[in-house]
Amino acid sequence: MRVYDIIKKKRDGVELSGEEISFFIKGVTSGSIPDCQISSLLMAVYFQGMTEEETAALTREMLYSGRVLDLNSIKDKKIDKHSTGGVGDKITLAAAPLAASCGVYIPMIAGRGLGHTGGTIDKLESIPGFRTDLTLEEFTRQVEKTGISIIGQTGEIAPADRRLYAIRDITATVESIPFITSSIMSKKLAEGIDALVLDIKVGSGAFMKNQDDARKLAKTMIEIGKGMGKKVIAVLTDMNQPLGMAVGNSLEVIEAIDVLNGKGPADVAELTVETSAWMLLLAGKADSMALGRQKIRKAIKSRSGLKKFKEMVAGQGGITDVIDNPSLFSSARYSETFAARGEGFISGIDAERVGIAAMHLGAGRIKVDDRIDHAAGIILNKKVGDQVRINEELAVIYFNNISKRDPTIKMLENAFSFCKDKVETKPLIIEVLN
Ligand code: URA
Repeated sequence: MRVYDIIKKKRDGVELSGEEISFFIKGVTSGSIPDCQISSLLMAVYFQGMTEEETAALTREMLYSGRVLDLNSIKDKKIDKHSTGGVGDKITLAAAPLAASCGVYIPMIAGRGLGHTGGTIDKLESIPGFRTDLTLEEFTRQVEKTGISIIGQTGEIAPADRRLYAIRDITATVESIPFITSSIMSKKLAEGIDALVLDIKVGSGAFMKNQDDARKLAKTMIEIGKGMGKKVIAVLTDMNQPLGMAVGNSLEVIEAIDVLNGKGPADVAELTVETSAWMLLLAGKADSMALGRQKIRKAIKSRSGLKKFKEMVAGQGGITDVIDNPSLFSSARYSETFAARGEGFISGIDAERVGIAAMHLGAGRIKVDDRIDHAAGIILNKKVGDQVRINEELAVIYFNNISKRDPTIKMLENAFSFCKDKVETKPLIIEVLN
């Protein structure tokens, strides 16, 4: 078998066989296929798509490119959640400890930033000392002991995804249903979970720009999960404007801590409660969503979610002082206010543009080996629907590299749109599929 022939076949729109997909993924994992051929096949799939059978085979091959954890030592249900990627999406940081504080076991393997979207692992690494690279044995022990652990992909878990993820990120091949499905599901199925809550983002800041594509992605992921004997719930949520106010790694951790303290922006708090309530329901820790929400609200009020977050951070080597006192997070050398040039109602805050602006400030990677600047990012002061007056502060940007200031301000100018009349805001939670 030759990679060249597989690329040519897909380029011409012909369905690949299970053997061809297996051959390709084995070559990705072993390193025998060079980046240029991987990129070509990625682009061919991006344009030609994959059938359900091909997507299932791709997911299976990526899953078995590494180890699959056995968490049978934990008798309770193991549940995870995953977002398909958004801007300002820090829901995992609050929802997972809240669910864990209500007795749900959460073995989570999360991703880094991809394109203009942030990643849970980059965010957690803004906590001094926090280790996202536990060995799988340490990870298992941490889940058994604390009920929750969040780590990045190790060389042992879905290593094929690790390489493909990095190449997709720099070859404009992220927004593809078979790739998003196989990337997320291979990691999730390797964790030894029983069920999964998916947050499928829709809108300008998401990889799925419209509801039809988001629904298609949700259905594909649900079917792949079902095929592997896992229950999957998919919640479609709006990503036309950034979630919450903070975009950037430590800034987002601070906002998640606010939510765990019963504060924080309303949209982040709402989605946190909804996501963790689903986790409770799937774990059998609540009999209905209403009861699940009630338990989560109680866990926020009693600060037991916050306590669980601290336990997780301490268990993974992190300094918990920053949780009690977020001003201890390293801060950016510079900040600059972005003010309104006109007045009226905000009709849109383009999440993709804000994500790209934050990425340029250093919160994300432009090149695969770029180092993240954990302090860089943007704090919005307004949301869609808010009324603004001329010169009113719309956002503050935080950065360490002065050359980033002017281009970022330009990007933000194009991110905000205004109108004269009051605007209707869209619901955050669009629909639930299972
Ligand atoms: N998160 C992932 O882990 N993979 C994707 O492709 C998108 C979001």
